[in-house]
Amino acid sequence: MDKILVQGGRRLNGSVRISGAKNAALPILAAALLCDGTNTFTNVPDLKDIQSTLELLSHLGARCQMQDHTVQVDAAGLNNHEAPYDLVRKMRASILVLGPLVARLKRARVSLPGGCAIGARPINLHLRALALLGATIELSHGYVEASCAQLRGADIYFDVVTVTGTENIMMAAVLAEGTTILRNAACEPEIEALADVLNRMGASIRGAGTPEIVIEGVARLHPVTAQIIPDRIETGTFMAAAALTGGDVRILGADPTHVDAVIHKLRLTGAHIDVQDGTIHVQSNNGIGSVDVKTLPYPGFPTDMQAQFMVLMTVARGSCLISETIFENRFIHVGELRRMGADITVSGNAALIKGVAKLSGAPVMATDLRASASLILAGLIAENTTEINRVYHLDRGYESLESKFQQLGAVIRRVKA
Ligand code: EPU
Repeated sequence: MDKILVQGGRRLNGSVRISGAKNAALPILAAALLCDGTNTFTNVPDLKDIQSTLELLSHLGARCQMQDHTVQVDAAGLNNHEAPYDLVRKMRASILVLGPLVARLKRARVSLPGGCAIGARPINLHLRALALLGATIELSHGYVEASCAQLRGADIYFDVVTVTGTENIMMAAVLAEGTTILRNAACEPEIEALADVLNRMGASIRGAGTPEIVIEGVARLHPVTAQIIPDRIETGTFMAAAALTGGDVRILGADPTHVDAVIHKLRLTGAHIDVQDGTIHVQSNNGIGSVDVKTLPYPGFPTDMQAQFMVLMTVARGSCLISETIFENRFIHVGELRRMGADITVSGNAALIKGVAKLSGAPVMATDLRASASLILAGLIAENTTEINRVYHLDRGYESLESKFQQLGAVIRRVKA
């Protein structure tokens, strides 16, 4: 398996361009199942998770191709309603085909995604909402089997804010008969991006980006050309890396409004952040102050930035508390950071971090994407070399991560297996 080696101690300097958002592209690609004809999506990041999705859509009968960050999907040949275990286990977000398949084919058989490294991650709220839309749901042999004569609009309240749950049900409801109201819906920018694409396909969705989304069902949708929004977690990761290394970095092609909470918290640590015309300029040269953080659904501080922010706090002046309220097991990186010399105590869903003078390089690994990214960040400031194993997690969600860091002056390289 490939490894990434990072030689710590370089200040990051220069500019970096942000790729399209993985978590916006995944539901939008699934939405292409909702109509016949060729959809064209640009600015699609070149990632393992995108390849897995295209493999799944092809398996379902869609024609897919990807070239230079442009993906074309034509679901005219959609003829298979089963997402098998082998494809779903590679990527939990495969569950996003459930809503479109039921809406389009009136039935779906999708392998249940299991728990993953960061938590149990049930899909009970997706299933309950789909049942309220009129689908019959059965669980058997590790699969969800859903069928219906015709989906009908319903008034749905989500007990917990769920991102892919909101997306799945939005995609099912656009072809349902009548009006659907989603209450306590997720407000993430990826929800708005999906609603925008669906509306351009001919759907009628109001309120996406707020907790109440109203969807008037339509009979059919048509294909579109759409651009994937920039990745706010990649943006935040480079912002944190710039602040951490005392760097001077311009982040290009981002949407600063999507990273408000991260900008706010980084400013409190002492970083200077200027935002102008989609460029975020991060400068830091005066040490790092400790700041408490609590992860929350958008517009709160994203759980997908918790691990990266924690690295910053490991070398900050003073102590702070980081609380993780979204996933029950998202401190996987803590043990590895401790091996690098960090002083972190975890109690329940909170981590107490006492800043230390330095981290020291070590062989490390993580079992989730953002935890792996945090270890790269730790490597950037650690003494000597940090060896990050299980790089495939990074390849699932960060495009050209090493070369982007190299451009900024980091000493980082991949060692092929
Ligand atoms: N939940 C339930 N029941 C459900 C659905 C969710 O109890 O039916 C709970 C989850 O267990 C969790 C909370 O609700 O405690 C929030 O989970 P959510 O459903 O919002 O997460 P997700 O949709 O599975 C997406 C992102 C994650 C990101 C979370 C939270 C995609 C493909 N994935 O996951 O991204 O962490 O929202 O913002 O959009 C990543 O990119 O590394 C990643 C993990």
